[in-house]
Amino acid sequence: MIIATTTSEVRGQVQKWRQAGLTIGLVPTMGYLHEGRASLVDKAVTLCDKVVVSDFVNPTQFGPNEDLETYPRDFKRDCALLEEHGCALVFHPSADEMYPDGNGKTDTYVEILDEMPRQLCGKTCPIHFRGGCTIVAKLFNIVTPDKAFFGQKDAQQLAIIRRMVRDLSYGVEIVGCPIVRETDGLAKSSRNTYLTSAEHQAALILSKSIFLGQKLVADGEKDADKIVAAMEANIKTEPLAKIDYVSAVDGITMMPVHMIGNGTLVAMAVYIGKVRLIDNFIVEE
Ligand code: PAF
Repeated sequence: MIIATTTSEVRGQVQKWRQAGLTIGLVPTMGYLHEGRASLVDKAVTLCDKVVVSDFVNPTQFGPNEDLETYPRDFKRDCALLEEHGCALVFHPSADEMYPDGNGKTDTYVEILDEMPRQLCGKTCPIHFRGGCTIVAKLFNIVTPDKAFFGQKDAQQLAIIRRMVRDLSYGVEIVGCPIVRETDGLAKSSRNTYLTSAEHQAALILSKSIFLGQKLVADGEKDADKIVAAMEANIKTEPLAKIDYVSAVDGITMMPVHMIGNGTLVAMAVYIGKVRLIDNFIVEE
């Protein structure tokens, strides 16, 4: 596995692969990888000849009060896992390599101007998706992948990236990959490592509420407000849980819906102690 730290190294290698007629998959990550992210690499390996994984904690998507400094990092462990899963090149740039103006700053952003990035997770951190789109656009420009792989767990991010690709005419196919859960149901996330064992137990209320919502839909409930209310009531039974949001939205536009239909996204963000966790399901009829 090649470890590259500069954009020119990545471009040089990609050019060689292109000349050999190989297809390229990109899995953008912020490192501290877990089986959820590894499943994106597995998927990419089945669909592309060469898989590039970016491992970069992107400063522009963290708000001033967020955990940029303390965001967990373990590049050595990431490399071992990526090699095991068949990654051909890991791109691990410095912040200055990606943002040459220094301090993770840039004056050039990619931003969707309508309401889409301001719903759900965008309410608590309005700059999050602007930073995410900007770094993903930069990675697309550097790696020029045929396909790029994103997790359904970050459903709003996935929808926003699809929109950016459409609006900016990127020639990359976006592949959404299913949520990976612990055996106890908790959706895998780098932030799970912040949880104490008591908090981990408490965090199971997220997946339990997701499963409750899915059951209500399967039983024929169409009223999105009733489903959201039932899920919220369930979350409130857990003393360590504090709801940020539980919402039913259109899975493409992220705008609120009152009736459940095919493609409705039911999403939540819940604080367990200080740790903010997200989970969701998509209605498939
Ligand atoms: O999903 C993430 O980890 C990040 O938002 C991404 C897509 C790697 C961009 O930094």
